[in-house]
Amino acid sequence: HTVEWDPEETGKSGYDHFMLKEIHEQPRSLRQCLQGRVDELAGQVTLEELPSLSPTRVHLVAAGTSYHAALYGAHLLQERGIPAQPFYAHEYASFTPPGDDALVVGVSQSGETADTLAAMREAHRRGADTLAVTNTVGSTLARESDHVLYIRSGPEIGVAATKTFASQLTALNLLTLSIAAGREARDVIASLRDLPGDVQAVLDDSKAEQVASAFADSDSYFFIGRGLHFPVALEGALKLKEISYEHAEGFAAGELKHGPLALVTENTPVFALVTGDGEAARKTIGNVKEVEARGAPVVAITDGLSDVGRYADYVLPIPESHPRVAPILANVQLQLVAYHVANQLGRPIDKPRNLAKSVTVE
Ligand code: G6P
Repeated sequence: HTVEWDPEETGKSGYDHFMLKEIHEQPRSLRQCLQGRVDELAGQVTLEELPSLSPTRVHLVAAGTSYHAALYGAHLLQERGIPAQPFYAHEYASFTPPGDDALVVGVSQSGETADTLAAMREAHRRGADTLAVTNTVGSTLARESDHVLYIRSGPEIGVAATKTFASQLTALNLLTLSIAAGREARDVIASLRDLPGDVQAVLDDSKAEQVASAFADSDSYFFIGRGLHFPVALEGALKLKEISYEHAEGFAAGELKHGPLALVTENTPVFALVTGDGEAARKTIGNVKEVEARGAPVVAITDGLSDVGRYADYVLPIPESHPRVAPILANVQLQLVAYHVANQLGRPIDKPRNLAKSVTVE
């Protein structure tokens, strides 16, 4: 007797696509990312592979999904008073020649993206200290950088990055805590400790498939978020574009009224990221009301602390978490929305047209 098996199918462990498998692997990959790096009692982060870093300023360079992680990382560092700027790697040379006092952080899942390698080489040539944040041990980026922080996601096969994005955000949280922890450290660490379980809770009970069926035939999809949710709004839109071939855009919530609002109709669902009940939530709810008044369906991704649900057609809930960690949870709901929209449209999810997992040309 011979047993028929297809190595590719076997690799998916019963999931229809690698992407869905990798979305579901996040509790484990996040645990790996955190393993041995956080001391909850002391409120401390230890990144054994790194020396103690105290940069006067930080440039983060990246492309694609990793650029969204870089944007988030820059925001975290800025919150802690460290001047930090994100750059598209392919724009870096033409915009800001790094001084030799900048720590230049290359964020790249593969560690082989040509644009990112070129920016890092240029930074190195100018005498900057360079740090790779990557998933791939032995990658060119890891070998060529002065320091390496591994995100420890395990291999990602789906072209659309999912679990590696979650781990990039987590690793950048750890990096920020190791460079400039403040009084918030204990609370952030507590939320990071809960993160794998919280992601599992989202995965176990997501209504994303239902939302996807309601809107799988829309003219366009908009994603809005403010502060640390802005990079996730961009990522939500990118994920949907990449695998469903539908038009989608992410906006900083406050920017919507400065132009994009002209595009909003009853055929453009708006996904709003709203957590907490502070000023940011209140303002984003204001933006939600603006689109609702124009007839757009609203999907709120929320921890339920504000009343955004009152203005939403659908709510995709996430557990309460520290504001730095909540975007990682919100992103899981958006990954699932993108996956289910693409699946309902019958797209080849793991290998979208025209895209490559890693782009090794500039
Ligand atoms: C390609 C992939 C994207 C990825 C980007 C950066 O364009 O299709 O999914 O985000 O490269 O990849 P990196 O390996 O540098 O994170």
